[in-house]
Amino acid sequence: MAIQWYPGHMTSARKKAGETMARIDVVIEVLDARLPEASTNPLVRELRMQRQRPCLKILNKADLADPLATKAWIDYYNRQPGVKAVALSCKNHGDVARIPSLCQPLAPHRNDNVKQLRMMIMGIPNVGKSTLMNTLVKRKIAKVGDEPAVTKSQQTHEISVRHSITDTPGLMWPKIEHPSDGLMLAASHAVGRNAIIDDEVAIFLADLLLVRYPALIEARYKFPVDGLDGVAVIEGIARRRGFRVRGGEPDFEKASMVLLQDYRDGALGRISLETPETRSAMLAKTAPAVVVNAEAPAAE
Ligand code: G4P
Repeated sequence: MAIQWYPGHMTSARKKAGETMARIDVVIEVLDARLPEASTNPLVRELRMQRQRPCLKILNKADLADPLATKAWIDYYNRQPGVKAVALSCKNHGDVARIPSLCQPLAPHRNDNVKQLRMMIMGIPNVGKSTLMNTLVKRKIAKVGDEPAVTKSQQTHEISVRHSITDTPGLMWPKIEHPSDGLMLAASHAVGRNAIIDDEVAIFLADLLLVRYPALIEARYKFPVDGLDGVAVIEGIARRRGFRVRGGEPDFEKASMVLLQDYRDGALGRISLETPETRSAMLAKTAPAVVVNAEAPAAE
């Protein structure tokens, strides 16, 4: 299955983001703390590098993510030049209020009480940009919704005399390079419902949970998972919940939706779909093999 973004939006969103980047001091990149790299749009980095702009990476929805994995990600990002990473929940007003002061040290030249610090929010759909913006600006300016791509037009707001913030429409990329990223994004509902096949995404999620969080499945659905695969876990959920189709077979589709919804709502517990280690293992597996020319003369 190939999960794709919506190319129509992309060209104009990218152009606009590039123009805005020239006029701001710090990029606030909102990521989903449960899948920070899978929810990273490589275009953000590319545009940032072109203009040499520093970045505050917000690992949002930290309330839903595994705290140990989040800590590992924060350390990982804080090693990158020009980057400061924080984990928070944009639903928490206290967390959001810290954001301008976290951005300030990234642009010391704008720290003179005269020049306004100009920030720009970027990130893929559904990571919490509108929630962040509404809390920062302290009024409802952006529509929040669990359907991707709700934020459509670019808006600049003064938070105070010293801080302004520009919102950008969900910046998308033409092709998601790694299929597992597409599945993680779909599990976390960052790609629209009609673009995904729920059963396949649920099987992927169940397989991942079996490896990383088997005890959370057992605690939630009350059956042992030893020796099961993802399909059997979903069938088990259907049986436990009494979901049946005509003929008495387990209702796989309904059980898949329950698993996905429980993950999305945090009902299963705090879960991270990737860590820096699982990410580098995945990248190592998918990296093109080094081709050795067998006919090349051996070095003396
Ligand atoms: P976007 O602009 O990047 O597309 O994202 P948006 O703010 O619309 O947020 C998408 C969903 O994520 C919303 O859920 C929002 O409430 C939720 N969300 C945002 N930040 C956080 C967070 O830190 N923690 C948690 N747990 N959820 C967060 P929704 O179901 O559509 O809305 P609601 O019923 O929760 O208000």
